[in-house]
Parts: sequence; structure tokens; C-alpha cells
Amino acid sequence: MIIETERLVLRDWLPTDHEPWAAMNADPAVREFLGPPITREQADASIAYFQEALDRNGYGFWAVEVRGTGEFIGFTGLDDVDDFMPFTGVEIGWRLARSAWGRGYATEAARAVLAYGFETLRLPEIFAITTTTNVRSQAVMRRLGMTTDPAEDFDHPEIEEGDPLRRHVLYRIKP
Ligand SMILES: CC(C)(COP(=O)(O)OP(=O)(O)OC[C@H]1O[C@@H](n2cnc3c(N)ncnc32)[C@H](O)[C@@H]1OP(=O)(O)O)[C@@H](O)C(=O)NCCC(=O)NCCS
Repeated sequence: MIIETERLVLRDWLPTDHEPWAAMNADPAVREFLGPPITREQADASIAYFQEALDRNGYGFWAVEVRGTGEFIGFTGLDDVDDFMPFTGVEIGWRLARSAWGRGYATEAARAVLAYGFETLRLPEIFAITTTTNVRSQAVMRRLGMTTDPAEDFDHPEIEEGDPLRRHVLYRIKP
């Protein structure tokens, strides 16, 4: 399964993605709202997990590369909302290397993923969550036309009280 946009290709994960994926997840700027940097082993394990979900469901977090150069820049895709969250359904997510920020790549990839989710998967709604402080990610959500209601802000069930990353916003969009 490949999703193509004007400037990007969303595709299965390749062996050559492991090194740049580990490098971007060792970058404190990329991890600012995600938690501490992860090890090479954890990065490798996450690729296996993403690819397994893609193979099983036909959707998941696709690797994103720049058309033409073939440069790997991160992921964008869809994920089943975890059972312990205060809502159920499918969420959209993105994570790009610092060098790929500020070019509209996340929004471009996410637009194509939303279209796939609504037109091919026939999802009734798609969610997005992030910390209240992750303004870059929330700007992507708003550019996509997603909306939020402060009354739906919530504490992430897996993040401890007192952790500044605990408070989250919930954005939604329908077809
Ligand atoms: C969240 C994240 C993907 C957002 O990336 P981003 O580059 O800010 O978002 P976009 O790809 O939509 O790019 C928008 C920016 O590109 C600019 N831009 C430049 N060329 C553009 C073009 N051709 N088309 C559209 N926008 C363009 C826009 O003006 C905007 O700039 P601004 O941030 O100065 O306003 C990125 O910050 C990231 O990976 N963060 C770390 C991981 C993370 O927190 N993920 C989310 C967890 S919930």
C-alpha cells in the first residue's frame, strides 16, 4: 500500500529507515512532547510494531519519504486508539525529523491519510491527540480542519500526575 502526494510517498518501512528513524528519536527537539529519547533497540522495535500493524490492518503509521530524493523523514498515519483512552476509534499521528519541519510536509501527508481514512476505510470520524503544550502539532490539526473542545481535554492515563506532558487535547474531524 502506497499513498502518494505532490511531494511525498507514504510506504512500508524499509531496512534503510532504521538508522534515520533512530537518529530522529534521539533528538530532544523531536521528543520534546513525547517523553525521553529512545534507544536504537526501542526504535527498531517500534518499526517492527508499525509494520506489523500495517500488514494486519491495511493502515497504520506509514514511513514518509520525499519524492525524487527518496529521503526518509518520519511517519504519518492512522492508529487504533488504545483501549485505556477516554474515547474509541482511529487516530491520526505524525512525527518528522527536525530537518523536515517548516515545509508543510506533515500537513500534506496527513491530508492524504485523512482522505484514505474517509474514502477507502470509510471511517466515521478520525481523532488526534497531543499535549496541551504541543502547539506545532495542534497547528497541523487545525490546518487539516480538525476541531477541539476544551471540555474534552483529558489527562493521559499512562502519564503520571505532576508530569507536564500529562494534560492532552482531543481534536476530531468527520468526512
Ligand atoms: C508536529 C510536526 C509534525 C509539525 O511539523 P511542521 O513542519 O510544523 O508542520 P507542517 O509540515 O504542517 O508545516 C507547516 C509549516 O511549514 C511552512 N511551509 C513551508 N513551505 C510550505 C508549503 N509548501 N506548504 C505548506 N506549508 C509550508 C508553513 O508556513 C508552516 O510554518 P510555521 O510552522 O512557521 O507556521 C513536527 O513538529 C514534529 O514532528 N514534531 C515532533 C513529533 C511530534 O510532536 N509529533 C506529534 C505528536 S502528537
